[in-house]
Amino acid sequence: MLASRAVVRQMCGPVMQSSRVDVDLGSRSYPVLIGTELLPGLGGILREHGLKQANAFVVTNPQVGGLYFSALEKALTAGGFTRVVRHEIPASEEGKNWDEFSGVCTALLENFPDTGAVPLVILLGGGVVGDLGGFAAGVFRRGVPFVQMPTTLLAAVDSSVGGKVAVNFGGVKNIMGIFNQPRLVVCDLALLRTLDAREVRSGTSEIIKYGAVCSGALFQQLEDGALEHLLALKPDVLTDIVAHCVRLKARVVEQDEFDKKGIRNVLNFGHTIGHALELSADYALTHGEAIAIGMIAATHLARALGQCDAGFAIRLRDLILRAGLPVSFAAAPELFDRVIRAMQMDKKFREGKNVLVLPTGVGQWEQVENVAWPLVHEAVRAVLTA
Ligand SMILES: NC(=O)c1ccc[n+]([C@@H]2O[C@H](COP(=O)([O-])OP(=O)(O)OC[C@H]3O[C@@H](n4cnc5c(N)ncnc54)[C@H](O)[C@@H]3O)[C@@H](O)[C@H]2O)c1
Ligand SMILES: [Zn+2]
Repeated sequence: MLASRAVVRQMCGPVMQSSRVDVDLGSRSYPVLIGTELLPGLGGILREHGLKQANAFVVTNPQVGGLYFSALEKALTAGGFTRVVRHEIPASEEGKNWDEFSGVCTALLENFPDTGAVPLVILLGGGVVGDLGGFAAGVFRRGVPFVQMPTTLLAAVDSSVGGKVAVNFGGVKNIMGIFNQPRLVVCDLALLRTLDAREVRSGTSEIIKYGAVCSGALFQQLEDGALEHLLALKPDVLTDIVAHCVRLKARVVEQDEFDKKGIRNVLNFGHTIGHALELSADYALTHGEAIAIGMIAATHLARALGQCDAGFAIRLRDLILRAGLPVSFAAAPELFDRVIRAMQMDKKFREGKNVLVLPTGVGQWEQVENVAWPLVHEAVRAVLTA
Protein backbone atom coordinates (compact mmCIF):
# COMPACT_ATOMS: atom_id res chain seq x y z
CA MET A 1 0.00 0.00 0.00
CA LEU A 2 1.16 3.47 -0.78
CA ALA A 3 1.52 5.86 2.09
CA SER A 4 2.14 9.55 1.90
CA ARG A 5 2.06 12.45 4.21
CA ALA A 6 2.46 16.15 4.02
CA VAL A 7 4.46 17.80 6.75
CA VAL A 8 4.80 21.47 7.50
CA ARG A 9 8.27 22.21 8.86
CA GLN A 10 9.49 25.31 10.56
CA MET A 11 13.03 26.00 9.34
CA CYS A 12 14.74 29.10 10.69
CA GLY A 13 11.90 31.44 9.91
CA PRO A 14 9.72 30.67 6.90
CA VAL A 15 7.32 27.77 7.10
CA MET A 16 8.30 25.18 4.50
CA GLN A 17 5.97 22.65 2.98
CA SER A 18 7.43 19.20 2.59
CA SER A 19 6.08 15.83 1.69
CA ARG A 20 7.01 12.17 1.84
CA VAL A 21 5.76 9.48 -0.50
CA ASP A 22 6.58 5.84 0.21
CA VAL A 23 7.10 3.50 -2.71
CA ASP A 24 6.04 0.10 -1.40
CA LEU A 25 7.93 -2.69 -3.13
CA GLY A 26 8.48 -5.11 -0.27
CA SER A 27 12.19 -5.47 0.42
CA ARG A 28 12.93 -2.83 -2.24
CA SER A 29 10.67 -0.15 -0.68
CA TYR A 30 11.96 3.38 -0.26
CA PRO A 31 10.76 6.85 0.63
CA VAL A 32 10.74 9.87 -1.65
CA LEU A 33 11.37 13.02 0.38
CA ILE A 34 10.17 16.19 -1.30
CA GLY A 35 10.90 19.58 0.22
CA THR A 36 12.86 22.78 0.13
CA GLU A 37 16.40 23.16 1.49
CA LEU A 38 16.95 19.43 2.07
CA LEU A 39 20.50 19.47 0.66
CA PRO A 40 22.24 21.12 3.67
CA GLY A 41 20.91 18.37 5.96
CA LEU A 42 21.55 15.50 3.52
CA GLY A 43 24.21 13.79 5.66
CA GLY A 44 21.79 13.48 8.58
CA ILE A 45 18.93 12.41 6.28
CA LEU A 46 21.03 9.56 4.84
CA ARG A 47 22.02 8.34 8.30
CA GLU A 48 18.39 8.51 9.51
CA HIS A 49 17.50 6.26 6.59
CA GLY A 50 20.05 3.64 7.51
CA LEU A 51 22.70 4.55 4.95
CA LYS A 52 25.83 4.21 7.04
CA GLN A 53 28.60 4.14 4.41
CA ALA A 54 31.81 6.09 4.97
CA ASN A 55 32.41 6.67 1.24
CA ALA A 56 30.27 8.44 -1.34
CA PHE A 57 30.60 8.34 -5.12
CA VAL A 58 28.71 11.26 -6.64
CA VAL A 59 27.69 11.18 -10.30
CA THR A 60 26.77 14.58 -11.67
CA ASN A 61 27.51 16.79 -14.68
CA PRO A 62 29.68 19.92 -14.96
CA GLN A 63 26.70 22.26 -14.82
CA VAL A 64 24.94 20.75 -11.81
CA GLY A 65 28.21 19.80 -10.08
CA GLY A 66 29.43 23.38 -10.50
CA LEU A 67 26.33 24.66 -8.75
CA TYR A 68 25.79 22.12 -6.00
CA PHE A 69 28.72 19.74 -5.49
CA SER A 70 30.43 21.82 -2.79
CA ALA A 71 27.22 22.09 -0.77
CA LEU A 72 26.68 18.35 -1.21
CA GLU A 73 30.24 17.53 -0.14
CA LYS A 74 29.88 19.76 2.93
CA ALA A 75 26.58 18.09 3.87
CA LEU A 76 28.06 14.62 3.46
CA THR A 77 31.17 15.47 5.47
CA ALA A 78 28.95 16.89 8.23
CA GLY A 79 27.07 13.58 8.17
CA GLY A 80 30.29 11.61 8.77
CA PHE A 81 31.31 10.61 5.23
CA THR A 82 35.10 10.47 5.15
CA ARG A 83 35.60 10.26 1.38
CA VAL A 84 33.50 11.90 -1.34
CA VAL A 85 34.44 11.18 -4.96
CA ARG A 86 33.03 13.36 -7.76
CA HIS A 87 32.48 11.94 -11.24
CA GLU A 88 31.03 13.99 -14.07
CA ILE A 89 29.34 12.96 -17.28
CA PRO A 90 28.48 15.41 -20.07
CA ALA A 91 25.28 17.41 -19.63
CA SER A 92 22.20 16.47 -21.65
CA GLU A 93 21.08 13.41 -23.59
CA GLU A 94 24.33 13.14 -25.57
CA GLY A 95 26.02 12.00 -22.37
CA LYS A 96 23.63 9.07 -21.91
CA ASN A 97 25.67 6.51 -23.79
CA TRP A 98 27.68 3.34 -23.32
CA ASP A 99 31.07 5.09 -23.23
CA GLU A 100 30.00 7.35 -20.38
CA PHE A 101 28.41 4.40 -18.58
CA SER A 102 31.70 2.53 -18.97
CA GLY A 103 33.52 5.65 -17.67
CA VAL A 104 31.44 5.58 -14.49
CA CYS A 105 32.17 1.85 -14.04
CA THR A 106 35.90 2.49 -14.53
CA ALA A 107 35.87 5.31 -11.97
CA LEU A 108 33.97 3.14 -9.48
CA LEU A 109 36.50 0.35 -9.81
CA GLU A 110 39.53 2.65 -9.67
CA ASN A 111 38.27 4.47 -6.60
CA PHE A 112 36.85 1.46 -4.80
CA PRO A 113 38.94 -1.59 -5.73
CA ASP A 114 38.33 -3.21 -2.34
CA THR A 115 35.22 -5.22 -1.57
CA GLY A 116 35.44 -3.79 1.94
CA ALA A 117 34.76 -0.20 0.92
CA VAL A 118 31.46 -0.16 -0.90
CA PRO A 119 30.46 3.44 -1.62
CA LEU A 120 27.03 4.99 -1.46
CA VAL A 121 26.36 6.19 -5.02
CA ILE A 122 24.63 9.57 -5.10
CA LEU A 123 23.08 10.74 -8.36
CA LEU A 124 22.93 14.52 -8.41
CA GLY A 125 21.30 15.69 -11.62
CA GLY A 126 18.46 15.27 -14.06
CA GLY A 127 17.19 12.16 -15.76
CA VAL A 128 20.41 11.57 -17.69
CA VAL A 129 22.58 11.38 -14.56
CA GLY A 130 19.88 9.37 -12.76
CA ASP A 131 19.37 6.83 -15.56
CA LEU A 132 23.07 6.30 -16.34
CA GLY A 133 24.28 6.38 -12.73
CA GLY A 134 21.52 4.06 -11.53
CA PHE A 135 22.53 1.55 -14.20
CA ALA A 136 26.21 1.69 -13.17
CA ALA A 137 25.27 1.35 -9.46
CA GLY A 138 23.21 -1.70 -10.37
CA VAL A 139 26.00 -3.59 -12.10
CA PHE A 140 29.10 -2.57 -10.09
CA ARG A 141 29.77 -5.54 -7.79
CA ARG A 142 26.29 -6.79 -8.75
CA GLY A 143 24.76 -3.74 -7.18
CA VAL A 144 25.72 -1.07 -4.67
CA PRO A 145 23.19 1.18 -2.89
CA PHE A 146 22.30 4.46 -4.53
CA VAL A 147 20.31 7.60 -3.81
CA GLN A 148 18.59 9.76 -6.38
CA MET A 149 18.85 13.54 -5.94
CA PRO A 150 16.81 14.89 -8.86
CA THR A 151 17.68 18.44 -9.91
CA THR A 152 15.26 18.91 -12.82
CA LEU A 153 11.49 19.09 -12.65
CA LEU A 154 11.31 16.11 -14.99
CA ALA A 155 13.56 13.99 -12.79
CA ALA A 156 11.63 15.08 -9.69
CA VAL A 157 8.25 13.95 -11.02
CA ASP A 158 9.32 10.98 -13.07
CA SER A 159 12.78 9.57 -13.71
CA SER A 160 14.10 9.52 -10.12
CA VAL A 161 11.31 7.17 -9.02
CA GLY A 162 10.53 3.67 -10.25
CA GLY A 163 13.92 2.09 -10.84
CA LYS A 164 14.14 2.05 -14.64
CA VAL A 165 17.76 2.87 -15.38
CA ALA A 166 19.41 2.69 -18.77
CA VAL A 167 21.55 4.24 -21.48
CA ASN A 168 20.90 4.78 -25.17
CA PHE A 169 22.75 2.41 -27.49
CA GLY A 170 22.91 1.80 -31.24
CA GLY A 171 20.56 4.70 -31.88
CA VAL A 172 17.85 3.29 -29.61
CA LYS A 173 16.61 5.04 -26.47
CA ASN A 174 17.18 3.25 -23.17
CA ILE A 175 17.86 -0.09 -24.88
CA MET A 176 20.61 -1.17 -22.45
CA GLY A 177 19.33 -1.09 -18.91
CA ILE A 178 18.00 -2.82 -15.84
CA PHE A 179 15.46 -2.36 -13.06
CA ASN A 180 17.25 -1.01 -10.02
CA GLN A 181 15.42 0.80 -7.25
CA PRO A 182 17.18 3.53 -5.26
CA ARG A 183 17.41 3.27 -1.48
CA LEU A 184 16.10 6.79 -1.11
CA VAL A 185 15.05 9.75 -3.24
CA VAL A 186 15.81 13.21 -1.86
CA CYS A 187 14.12 15.86 -3.94
CA ASP A 188 15.21 19.33 -2.85
CA LEU A 189 12.99 21.67 -4.85
CA ALA A 190 15.26 24.64 -4.05
CA LEU A 191 17.74 23.18 -6.56
CA LEU A 192 15.21 23.69 -9.35
CA ARG A 193 15.57 27.47 -9.06
CA THR A 194 18.69 27.46 -11.25
CA LEU A 195 17.03 25.56 -14.10
CA ASP A 196 16.62 27.52 -17.27
CA ALA A 197 13.06 28.18 -18.38
CA ARG A 198 13.24 25.63 -21.21
CA GLU A 199 14.05 22.81 -18.78
CA VAL A 200 11.19 23.85 -16.47
CA ARG A 201 8.80 23.76 -19.42
CA SER A 202 10.22 20.38 -20.40
CA GLY A 203 9.41 19.01 -16.93
CA THR A 204 5.79 20.14 -17.19
CA SER A 205 5.42 17.81 -20.18
CA GLU A 206 5.60 14.68 -17.97
CA ILE A 207 3.24 16.38 -15.49
CA ILE A 208 0.71 17.00 -18.27
CA LYS A 209 1.18 13.33 -19.22
CA TYR A 210 0.21 12.18 -15.72
CA GLY A 211 -2.86 14.42 -15.82
CA ALA A 212 -3.84 13.34 -19.33
CA VAL A 213 -3.83 9.59 -18.69
CA CYS A 214 -3.61 8.97 -14.92
CA SER A 215 -5.56 11.71 -13.18
CA GLY A 216 -8.39 13.89 -14.45
CA ALA A 217 -8.16 15.88 -11.19
CA LEU A 218 -4.51 16.78 -11.86
CA PHE A 219 -5.33 17.73 -15.45
CA GLN A 220 -8.11 20.02 -14.22
CA GLN A 221 -5.83 21.52 -11.56
CA LEU A 222 -3.27 22.37 -14.27
CA GLU A 223 -5.99 23.87 -16.46
CA ASP A 224 -7.26 25.92 -13.52
CA GLY A 225 -3.95 27.78 -13.23
CA ALA A 226 -1.56 25.43 -11.43
CA LEU A 227 0.41 25.14 -14.69
CA GLU A 228 1.46 28.80 -14.62
CA HIS A 229 2.38 28.52 -10.91
CA LEU A 230 4.50 25.50 -11.76
CA LEU A 231 6.26 27.34 -14.55
CA ALA A 232 7.02 30.08 -12.01
CA LEU A 233 8.23 27.39 -9.55
CA LYS A 234 5.82 28.64 -6.85
CA PRO A 235 6.96 26.58 -3.85
CA ASP A 236 3.61 25.39 -2.43
CA VAL A 237 2.19 24.44 -5.85
CA LEU A 238 5.48 22.82 -6.82
CA THR A 239 5.60 20.67 -3.67
CA ASP A 240 1.95 19.72 -4.05
CA ILE A 241 2.19 18.74 -7.72
CA VAL A 242 5.55 16.97 -7.50
CA ALA A 243 4.17 14.89 -4.59
CA HIS A 244 0.97 14.19 -6.55
CA CYS A 245 2.93 12.97 -9.59
CA VAL A 246 5.26 10.85 -7.45
CA ARG A 247 2.22 9.26 -5.76
CA LEU A 248 0.71 8.49 -9.17
CA LYS A 249 3.97 6.97 -10.37
CA ALA A 250 4.47 5.02 -7.14
CA ARG A 251 0.99 3.53 -7.46
CA VAL A 252 1.71 2.36 -11.02
CA VAL A 253 5.19 1.00 -10.20
CA GLU A 254 3.87 -0.84 -7.11
CA GLN A 255 1.46 -2.74 -9.34
CA ASP A 256 3.91 -3.52 -12.12
CA GLU A 257 7.48 -2.98 -10.96
CA PHE A 258 9.05 -5.02 -13.77
CA ASP A 259 6.81 -3.82 -16.57
CA LYS A 260 5.33 -7.28 -17.10
CA LYS A 261 1.61 -6.68 -16.63
CA GLY A 262 0.99 -3.84 -19.06
CA ILE A 263 0.04 -1.50 -16.18
CA ARG A 264 3.31 0.45 -16.27
CA ASN A 265 2.81 1.16 -19.95
CA VAL A 266 0.53 4.05 -19.01
CA LEU A 267 3.70 6.05 -18.30
CA ASN A 268 4.67 5.60 -21.95
CA PHE A 269 1.89 7.86 -23.23
CA GLY A 270 3.55 10.07 -25.84
CA HIS A 271 6.81 8.13 -25.59
CA THR A 272 6.59 5.72 -28.54
CA ILE A 273 6.60 8.44 -31.17
CA GLY A 274 8.26 10.91 -28.75
CA HIS A 275 11.35 8.77 -28.10
CA ALA A 276 11.76 8.10 -31.83
CA LEU A 277 11.57 11.82 -32.51
CA GLU A 278 13.91 12.68 -29.63
CA LEU A 279 16.65 10.49 -31.08
CA SER A 280 15.99 11.22 -34.76
CA ALA A 281 16.05 14.98 -34.18
CA ASP A 282 19.68 14.65 -33.04
CA TYR A 283 19.02 16.21 -29.63
CA ALA A 284 17.37 19.35 -31.02
CA LEU A 285 14.45 18.57 -28.71
CA THR A 286 14.56 17.99 -24.97
CA HIS A 287 12.94 14.80 -23.68
CA GLY A 288 9.92 16.76 -22.45
CA GLU A 289 9.51 18.60 -25.76
CA ALA A 290 9.67 15.34 -27.73
CA ILE A 291 7.10 13.78 -25.38
CA ALA A 292 4.77 16.79 -25.80
CA ILE A 293 4.83 16.25 -29.58
CA GLY A 294 4.51 12.48 -29.02
CA MET A 295 1.36 13.02 -26.94
CA ILE A 296 -0.16 15.13 -29.73
CA ALA A 297 0.68 12.39 -32.27
CA ALA A 298 -0.72 9.60 -30.07
CA THR A 299 -3.91 11.62 -29.56
CA HIS A 300 -4.15 12.12 -33.32
CA LEU A 301 -3.99 8.35 -33.67
CA ALA A 302 -6.58 7.82 -30.92
CA ARG A 303 -8.90 10.21 -32.75
CA ALA A 304 -8.37 8.35 -36.04
CA LEU A 305 -9.28 5.08 -34.29
CA GLY A 306 -12.37 6.69 -32.76
CA GLN A 307 -10.98 6.18 -29.25
CA CYS A 308 -11.15 9.69 -27.91
CA ASP A 309 -13.21 12.75 -28.63
CA ALA A 310 -12.21 16.09 -30.07
CA GLY A 311 -12.69 17.73 -26.65
CA PHE A 312 -9.77 15.78 -25.16
CA ALA A 313 -7.53 16.59 -28.11
CA ILE A 314 -8.30 20.31 -27.81
CA ARG A 315 -7.77 20.43 -24.04
CA LEU A 316 -4.45 18.58 -24.29
CA ARG A 317 -3.17 20.79 -27.08
CA ASP A 318 -4.19 23.94 -25.21
CA LEU A 319 -2.39 22.84 -22.07
CA ILE A 320 0.77 21.88 -23.98
CA LEU A 321 0.78 25.26 -25.71
CA ARG A 322 0.18 27.08 -22.41
CA ALA A 323 3.25 25.29 -21.05
CA GLY A 324 5.28 26.77 -23.92
CA LEU A 325 5.91 23.29 -25.31
CA PRO A 326 5.87 22.39 -29.02
CA VAL A 327 3.00 20.53 -30.69
CA SER A 328 4.94 19.84 -33.90
CA PHE A 329 8.50 19.73 -35.21
CA ALA A 330 9.76 21.47 -38.33
CA ALA A 331 11.89 18.90 -40.10
CA ALA A 332 13.42 17.97 -43.44
CA PRO A 333 11.37 15.31 -45.30
CA GLU A 334 14.01 12.58 -44.61
CA LEU A 335 13.26 12.76 -40.89
CA PHE A 336 9.98 10.92 -41.33
CA ASP A 337 11.75 7.67 -42.32
CA ARG A 338 14.23 7.99 -39.45
CA VAL A 339 11.41 8.45 -36.96
CA ILE A 340 9.57 5.37 -38.27
CA ARG A 341 12.75 3.28 -38.19
CA ALA A 342 13.57 4.43 -34.64
CA MET A 343 10.01 3.70 -33.53
CA GLN A 344 10.19 0.13 -34.86
CA MET A 345 12.98 -0.52 -32.33
CA ASP A 346 10.61 0.30 -29.43
CA LYS A 347 10.99 -2.19 -26.59
CA LYS A 348 7.21 -2.67 -26.35
CA PHE A 349 6.89 -3.86 -29.93
CA ARG A 350 6.69 -7.63 -30.46
CA GLU A 351 7.49 -9.45 -33.69
CA GLY A 352 6.96 -6.38 -35.82
CA LYS A 353 3.61 -5.59 -34.19
CA ASN A 354 3.34 -2.12 -32.73
CA VAL A 355 2.04 -1.43 -29.22
CA LEU A 356 0.78 2.05 -28.41
CA VAL A 357 -0.64 3.77 -25.36
CA LEU A 358 -3.57 5.90 -26.42
CA PRO A 359 -5.78 8.27 -24.43
CA THR A 360 -9.48 7.48 -24.24
CA GLY A 361 -10.56 10.52 -22.21
CA VAL A 362 -9.06 12.79 -19.55
CA GLY A 363 -7.28 10.58 -16.99
CA GLN A 364 -7.93 7.40 -19.00
CA TRP A 365 -5.98 5.28 -21.44
CA GLU A 366 -5.87 2.03 -23.33
CA GLN A 367 -3.06 -0.04 -24.79
CA VAL A 368 -3.63 -0.80 -28.45
CA GLU A 369 -1.69 -3.39 -30.43
CA ASN A 370 -1.06 -3.93 -34.08
CA VAL A 371 -2.47 -0.63 -35.29
CA ALA A 372 -2.44 -0.40 -39.10
CA TRP A 373 0.91 1.17 -40.03
CA PRO A 374 -0.61 3.72 -42.45
CA LEU A 375 -2.52 5.19 -39.50
CA VAL A 376 0.66 5.37 -37.42
CA HIS A 377 2.48 7.01 -40.34
CA GLU A 378 -0.30 9.54 -40.66
CA ALA A 379 -0.04 10.39 -36.93
CA VAL A 380 3.73 10.96 -37.30
CA ARG A 381 3.19 13.10 -40.42
CA ALA A 382 0.66 15.17 -38.49
CA VAL A 383 3.37 16.42 -36.12
CA LEU A 384 6.17 16.91 -38.66
CA THR A 385 5.94 20.19 -40.50
CA ALA A 386 8.09 21.16 -43.45
N1 LIG B 1 13.96 6.33 -15.78
C1 LIG B 1 12.78 6.82 -16.04
O1 LIG B 1 11.76 6.30 -15.59
C2 LIG B 1 12.67 8.04 -16.88
C3 LIG B 1 11.48 8.76 -16.94
C4 LIG B 1 11.44 9.94 -17.69
C5 LIG B 1 12.57 10.38 -18.36
N2 LIG B 1 13.72 9.65 -18.30
C6 LIG B 1 14.94 10.10 -18.96
O2 LIG B 1 15.33 11.33 -18.39
C7 LIG B 1 16.12 12.04 -19.35
C8 LIG B 1 15.69 13.48 -19.36
O3 LIG B 1 15.92 14.03 -18.08
P1 LIG B 1 16.04 15.61 -17.85
O4 LIG B 1 14.95 16.30 -18.59
O5 LIG B 1 16.16 15.80 -16.39
O6 LIG B 1 17.37 15.99 -18.67
P2 LIG B 1 18.91 16.19 -18.26
O7 LIG B 1 19.32 15.25 -17.21
O8 LIG B 1 19.63 16.19 -19.55
O9 LIG B 1 18.93 17.68 -17.67
C9 LIG B 1 18.54 18.72 -18.50
C10 LIG B 1 19.54 19.89 -18.43
O10 LIG B 1 19.33 20.60 -17.21
C11 LIG B 1 20.57 20.84 -16.57
N3 LIG B 1 20.29 20.87 -15.13
C12 LIG B 1 19.89 19.85 -14.36
N4 LIG B 1 19.61 20.26 -13.14
C13 LIG B 1 19.86 21.59 -13.10
C14 LIG B 1 19.73 22.59 -12.10
N5 LIG B 1 19.23 22.33 -10.90
N6 LIG B 1 20.10 23.85 -12.41
C15 LIG B 1 20.55 24.15 -13.66
N7 LIG B 1 20.65 23.26 -14.64
C16 LIG B 1 20.31 21.99 -14.37
C17 LIG B 1 21.43 19.69 -17.01
O11 LIG B 1 22.80 20.01 -16.90
C18 LIG B 1 21.00 19.50 -18.45
O12 LIG B 1 21.70 20.39 -19.29
C19 LIG B 1 15.94 11.34 -20.67
O13 LIG B 1 17.10 10.61 -20.98
C20 LIG B 1 14.79 10.38 -20.42
O14 LIG B 1 14.88 9.22 -21.21
C21 LIG B 1 13.78 8.50 -17.56
ZN1 LIG C 1 9.54 10.53 -20.20
